[in-house]
Amino acid sequence: MENIIKDIDIISPDEAQACDFKTTEEENTGKTKKLYIESYGCQMNFSDSEIVASIMKENGFDTTADFQQADVIFLNTCSIREKAEQTVRKRLSQFNAIKKQKPELTIGVLGCMAERLKDKLLEEEKIVDVVVGPDAYRDLPNLVASAEEGTKGVNTFLSREETYADISPVRLNSNGVSGFISIMRGCDNMCSFCVVPFTRGRERSRDPHSIVQEARELFEKGYREVTLLGQNVDSYKWSPEENNKARLNRKEEEVTTVINFAHLLEMVAQIDPLLRIRFSTSHPKDITDQVLYTIKKYDNICKYIHLPVQSGNSRVLELMNRTYDREWYLDRVRAIREILGEECGISSDMIAGFCTETEEEHRDTLSLMEIVKYDFSYMFYYSERPGTLAAKKYADDIPLEIKKRRLAEIIEKQAQLSLERNKLDLGKVYEILIEGTSKRSEDQLKGKNSANKVVIIPNDGTLKKGDYVHVRIKDCSAATLFGEPIA
Ligand code: SAH
Ligand code: SF4
Ligand code: F3S
Repeated sequence: MENIIKDIDIISPDEAQACDFKTTEEENTGKTKKLYIESYGCQMNFSDSEIVASIMKENGFDTTADFQQADVIFLNTCSIREKAEQTVRKRLSQFNAIKKQKPELTIGVLGCMAERLKDKLLEEEKIVDVVVGPDAYRDLPNLVASAEEGTKGVNTFLSREETYADISPVRLNSNGVSGFISIMRGCDNMCSFCVVPFTRGRERSRDPHSIVQEARELFEKGYREVTLLGQNVDSYKWSPEENNKARLNRKEEEVTTVINFAHLLEMVAQIDPLLRIRFSTSHPKDITDQVLYTIKKYDNICKYIHLPVQSGNSRVLELMNRTYDREWYLDRVRAIREILGEECGISSDMIAGFCTETEEEHRDTLSLMEIVKYDFSYMFYYSERPGTLAAKKYADDIPLEIKKRRLAEIIEKQAQLSLERNKLDLGKVYEILIEGTSKRSEDQLKGKNSANKVVIIPNDGTLKKGDYVHVRIKDCSAATLFGEPIA
């Protein structure tokens, strides 16, 4: 066991969200053309790629894992930090060579970078044929057909209604156990550092019936965990009036009241006790006690909350326009501990070196981390994004070396806290859901407990993915628990 522990380290900042990318898997249903998609950014973007694959499948495309075989290449992009955009530009230049050999290849840029840069992308990146924003994916087949005839195209129309509720996603890169379901799109908050409200448009919630139906279908296919996705799941709100009853052809009696996030959680939790429910992201200003009590009421709603704080200092939080302060945040953490107990997992996102942040204010972030005792965090240094409120109002005045040093301190603090939290689990028994064999060896299985901790157990050949098993924790590193099944 010891040699495993040495190899595992804590996630580093830019490996976390925006620089991750996933490619498609091979799907062969006898279609004539091949689509290759690479996805960058957050889970919502990965989930959108599954919608894109579904739309393209209806229009004659199977997915391929080999871009050399592809007739169409899509990059589903992220704009959250400058580095995320640079990664995509590098990737486009790599595809340049292929396009030279194969001029009939269509290259599309999708997602947040498409939305942010619009037709400028066609000017800047000559090999791009189509540019399509997150709300215009239904138009992809038309745009690709035009591109094949030699006409480049852009559609970055942002909608107030589009939720792709009727589209059944083609699951890409799935382990067959956990699936992601988008429950809303867009964001109506205006955090001053953030590009998302500009790239994803207004917030809108998806019909709860289509969410429950999608979760049920996943369960019937053998999935045992769904993660409900939105930029701010706590502001989920659906009512027949607001969400255009006529368009969805819904009978009046089916939904009589407004459905909020707590109700939605309950509806999904009732599908089957064997289906675990996770959700992301919770916003500190909106997470209610009603949501916490709903999580408590159902064993199959996981006791884990991703509650990004961004900064531990109230002045900085105000500049960030997060609409809560340090005390409010700590009060929400207190409510989580009171209602859901010490074992509930809590994780966060942190930004180091936001405009005008002083050393003392940076230390407030470290001290808040120490009070909350996060299990895990995604940590970044501030990257100014064109067009955001912060870019317009404040100078990006913290030198890069200082941002990096503060970030390193935050990462070090998180590593200590993760280890401290994991040590508390030694000797405890948890139910884990097995997701497959561990990356390192076929002799080990990997699963997660309710608090979202990765647990590694020996593979004795009797357990398989999708099984639940009770495990006693014997050892840990900062990132992983190691256990053994108990009778
Ligand atoms: N809706 C989620 C966050 C989505 S973006 C929320 O409100 O918590 C994911 C994370 O990226 C953010 O939480 C933030 O920590 C980070 N981020 C966003 N914009 C950034 C920027 N300009 N520079 C650095 N990090 C940023
Ligand atoms: Fe960005 Fe704030 Fe919306 Fe999150 S809540 S997506 S950080 S604007
Ligand atoms: Fe990136 Fe867009 Fe998600 S900017 S983090 S892909 S919403």
